[in-house]
Amino acid sequence: MPFKPLQFTPLPDNEMIQRSSTFREQLATRRSVRHFSTKEVPMEVINNVVMTASSAPSGANKEPWTFVIVKDPKIKRDIRIAAEKEEKAFYDHRAPDEWLADLEPLGTDWHKPFLEDAPFLIVVFKKIYGMEEDLQFKHYYVNESVGIASGFLLAAVHQAGLMALTHTPSPMGFLSKILKRPENERAFLLIPVGYPAEDAEVPVLTKKTFEEVAEVF
Ligand SMILES: Cc1cc2nc3c(=O)[nH]c(=O)nc-3n(C[C@H](O)[C@H](O)[C@H](O)COP(=O)(O)O)c2cc1C
Repeated sequence: MPFKPLQFTPLPDNEMIQRSSTFREQLATRRSVRHFSTKEVPMEVINNVVMTASSAPSGANKEPWTFVIVKDPKIKRDIRIAAEKEEKAFYDHRAPDEWLADLEPLGTDWHKPFLEDAPFLIVVFKKIYGMEEDLQFKHYYVNESVGIASGFLLAAVHQAGLMALTHTPSPMGFLSKILKRPENERAFLLIPVGYPAEDAEVPVLTKKTFEEVAEVF
């Protein structure tokens, strides 16, 4: 593989501190929202956030992901129906009591109208191995790679001035069927993207402090 000189401009300390602080403040205002407006969003924004996600690092640069973008109302409806079926079973009898107790403060239940209301659903699939024609090849650190790309995606949606929800209806096999995914792909996250509903509320949460999440040696 050919190499090229790295493009890198060092910043003075004060500018680094300023930039990191501004970015921290910007991302600290990100929230998951569960009530979406049906207001349309330009497709170009979705292209940009997906390509931001796809710029993420990945094990051996295999880029083991597919972002399936759903805007068709009929497909969104099929996804909602299938997700609500799984979620109803989860809330009614599959979820252990401890899990339900942890979800209680978030006010979630099996109803998922946002799967139809949000103008776009971005379904992130991980590719557990690569496939070219009939040949299979190995992927490395797939969960780590797709998790990082999904983090880039959520940050890009926020930066664009839109809202997202990280949604994981469990199990997610129905997404492979509805979206006709190949054998090497598994649904990873279902992310509605759009504007919040006018009356949207979010639970009051506190985030851990630096001392709680970091250790310095
Ligand atoms: C891997 C993952 C799975 C999640 N699954 C769901 C979900 O299925 N339904 C839901 O309403 N929220 C889900 N969430 C959102 C979390 O509840 C939310 O991120 C958390 O309460 C913190 O709120 P915030 O995102 O507003 O900071 C998920 C988040 C993550 C990271």
